[in-house]
Amino acid sequence: MSLLSIDNLSKSFTQGENHIQILNNLDFNLEKGKTASIIGKSGSGKSTLLSLLAGLDRPDTGSIKFCGQDICSMNEESITQLRNGKIGIVFQQFHLISHLTALENVCLPLEIQGKQNETEYAKQFMERVGLSHRLDHLPSQLSGGEKQRVAIARSLIIRPELLLADEPSGSLDDKTGDDVMNLIFELVKEENTGLVLVTHNRSLATQCDQTWSLSGGGLVPEDNNAQ
Ligand SMILES: Nc1ncnc2c1ncn2[C@@H]1O[C@H](COP(=O)(O)OP(=O)(O)OP(=O)(O)O)[C@@H](O)[C@H]1O
Ligand SMILES: [Mg+2]
Repeated sequence: MSLLSIDNLSKSFTQGENHIQILNNLDFNLEKGKTASIIGKSGSGKSTLLSLLAGLDRPDTGSIKFCGQDICSMNEESITQLRNGKIGIVFQQFHLISHLTALENVCLPLEIQGKQNETEYAKQFMERVGLSHRLDHLPSQLSGGEKQRVAIARSLIIRPELLLADEPSGSLDDKTGDDVMNLIFELVKEENTGLVLVTHNRSLATQCDQTWSLSGGGLVPEDNNAQ
């Protein structure tokens, strides 16, 4: 079954007199529970594409069907609701809420869904990402790897259909980055969550079911077995 189906997606930005076409009639498909990675030069539009997939920005033309629903024709409220229930997002720079503890950050998506008293469940999730001993720490009291583990727990606690990850290991050292990525791969596999991973790291990219390069505004398939 198709989780994501993108047709003819185009997005441009105008700045002053300059009009730049970032995505140009881009097509993409992802089946439920499958993983895809996107590589590409800086400025090629990878984060722009993820923003569109998350419904955080709107395309100029084209359609993005998520579980058969065209999110481009939804109003803001419906998109927000869809995102809160079915889409997890992890960024390079963690984006944790600084005045909330690690556990409170992880509980937040459930509270937004109106689910109170889920602390025990959130604690179990914190244990799953190896952070049982850091529940009451504020983000400023956590290491980079720990912050990203909190962000991963926060994104997956709603059991989303799709995880969007934009350079999740990009600001971590190699070993910590590998640990964080292995955790993401393990969790999405366990939960049969679809994954779109943006990364500069080709060896990480090839661990996904499919690898694409964003170039000239479109996605070009990469051979996962090529050196
Ligand atoms: N809101 C905006 N207004 C104007 N230009 C924008 C806007 N957002 C992105 N751009 C431009 O679109 C291009 C693509 O940006 P994007 O962030 O998607 O690149 P990227 O592939 O994620 O790069 P990186 O690998 O460096 O993260 C860049 O040239 C950027 O300057
Ligand atoms: Mg980017």
